[in-house]
Amino acid sequence: MEKFTIVQSARAIPSRVVTNDDLASFMDTSDEWISSRTGLRQRHIVDTEDTSDLAVTVAEKLLHQAGLTADQLDFILVGTMSPDTLSPSVAQIVQGEIGAHNAFAWDLSAACSGFVYTLSMASSLLTTRYERGLVIGAEVLSKLVNWEDRSTAVLFGDGAAGVLLERTTAATGLLAESLKTFGERSQFLTAGQQQNANHFAGTLKTADPYFKMDGREVYSFATREVPNVLNEALAKADLTPDDIDVYLLHQANGRIISSIAKRFGQPIEKFPMNMASYGNTSAASIGILLDELREAGTVHAGQTIAIAGFGGGLTVGALIIKV
Ligand code: ACO
Repeated sequence: MEKFTIVQSARAIPSRVVTNDDLASFMDTSDEWISSRTGLRQRHIVDTEDTSDLAVTVAEKLLHQAGLTADQLDFILVGTMSPDTLSPSVAQIVQGEIGAHNAFAWDLSAACSGFVYTLSMASSLLTTRYERGLVIGAEVLSKLVNWEDRSTAVLFGDGAAGVLLERTTAATGLLAESLKTFGERSQFLTAGQQQNANHFAGTLKTADPYFKMDGREVYSFATREVPNVLNEALAKADLTPDDIDVYLLHQANGRIISSIAKRFGQPIEKFPMNMASYGNTSAASIGILLDELREAGTVHAGQTIAIAGFGGGLTVGALIIKV
């Protein structure tokens, strides 16, 4: 077991709400189409904030809630596919803004598996070398959305959330994990291509900065591979699906989550969902859900929870955590 404790959680959600009907007012879609296929009813979209603004708010809340100062942090890891800039990374901007002078910081890019992969890395750091760090998932996906492409524009939202983690001697932390990457299938979900217009460049294909997704491929990938990684992680932890108190899955689509719950023979109540309120916030979604569930008391000390993400890369991963 890799021992750590989730000391605090926090989220930062942009105030502007965009409903399905708002989208239908300027693109050929409907609340019925969106909600019946995905479970989404609304999403939050930034005004002028960028990804680091949301991440900084999360970091400040975490420190405030814990009664800590920024120089007590050893590291800051941010999972994101929508950084403000390639350099500095979002984590480095956060480190500078909050004045975490003793912390190193970097971003991890694994799309909608970002929170799971980042939490896994943090678990290793805490077990081997460090005392305390922040894991934040932060996204402003609205800047990667082609607002003229209804097949992707209706799916995504902006937001951020994170956890403050500490090394512990208690019997809490990571029981087991399974992380997998399928780079050979990366074409099914791409975003953020950049044009190389250097002086020496030949004739280049025009780069597409926006989301492109084969929804059906990603759907079948998720319904096949999430159960696989969950089963592998459960087997490593010597647990059965019944031993998990709450399953926190990436909030992309209610139908995907329902089908996974059914596959495991588990009641849907063990798979809480909030995509109706936030849309798919990629690396932020599991953190937002975790924070809401901790706030509501649905996730609490003593439980065993499973966290699973899936998405661009293609990537998938599951962690079994004793809270
Ligand atoms: N409103 C109305 N009609 C639409 C819309 C829309 N917003 N978008 C597409 N349509 C139409 C299509 O044009 C198509 O029409 P046609 O049959 O006349 O050609 C029809 O609806 C069906 O389109 P599909 O794309 O086949 O719809 P599908 O039933 O597969 O649902 C969806 C699409 C919701 C995207 C689904 O495939 C899905 O959820 N996939 C998984 C996505 C996912 O989980 N991504 C997570 C990773 S994201 C990340 O990593 C960042």
